[in-house]
Amino acid sequence: MASLVQGHKKIERNVTLLGALALVVVAIGGIVEIAPLFWIQSTVAKVDGVRPYTPLELAGRNIYIREGCYSCHSQMIRPFRDETERYGHYSLAAESMYDHPFQWGSSRTGPDLARVGNRYSDEWHVQHLEDPRAVVPESIMPPYAFLAERDLKPGDMREHLRTLRIEGVPYTDDDIAKANDDLSTQAGGEGDAADLAKRYPKAQSRDFDGNPGRVTEMDAIVAYLQGLGTQIDFRVAAPREQAK
Ligand code: HEC
Repeated sequence: MASLVQGHKKIERNVTLLGALALVVVAIGGIVEIAPLFWIQSTVAKVDGVRPYTPLELAGRNIYIREGCYSCHSQMIRPFRDETERYGHYSLAAESMYDHPFQWGSSRTGPDLARVGNRYSDEWHVQHLEDPRAVVPESIMPPYAFLAERDLKPGDMREHLRTLRIEGVPYTDDDIAKANDDLSTQAGGEGDAADLAKRYPKAQSRDFDGNPGRVTEMDAIVAYLQGLGTQIDFRVAAPREQAK
């Protein structure tokens, strides 16, 4: 015991030795936390139903990010009773595995939007985005009426999907080749909506903004909002075995 105290005294009185040994101890802690990440395939358990965004949803999501909707809205339901009773099942990691960047958010001036899909009609969303006070008199949300006036100009969606594939989002060659057509098909244009729904299960195809003649930014953002939180069927879903 005495020699142990003596040994420790030596360390405490020698700054260089103390520093070197502290580094060794901290490094061990770091390795224990970091090293396993290099060997496990994924830290996210896959869940049935979760799929990449369709090109139109992706375009809507880009507008959501451009307009800073995340500064007032989170997209992460925490596993607490008050949250799950208000918003639905708590968010799973798998639900944002294809989000680059994720939209969890940390500020809730408005409600969480992780499961807002299919909760309101398209007309409600359009009215609400054009003039929030028209449907929620006490709302402090700013109006986004211009979204209905602006033609959607998303750029070449094939490039967008290709870039996301580099990030690990499993778009197929077919998805990428058809990306621009898929976008107009989903917005209610001509095109094979059944083929789209086969590649993107539960994708909803229609005119979202009530203006069938044009594809506007409103079409895209409403398509995005109507899809949020709708991919997993929580009555039957169970986490799949983690990929080995
Ligand atoms: C300044 C903060 C603020 C910003 C920015 C904002 N919102 Fe909101 N939002 C709110 C508030 C507050 C509410 C609750 C009152 C209401 O329904 O209008 C709300 C409600 C909503 C709802 C209804 C949610 C529900 O479950 O009832 C949706 C959908 C929504 N916002 C979408 C958006 C979108 C899309 C954007 C970006 C284009 C956006 N918001 C930007 C504050 C904001």
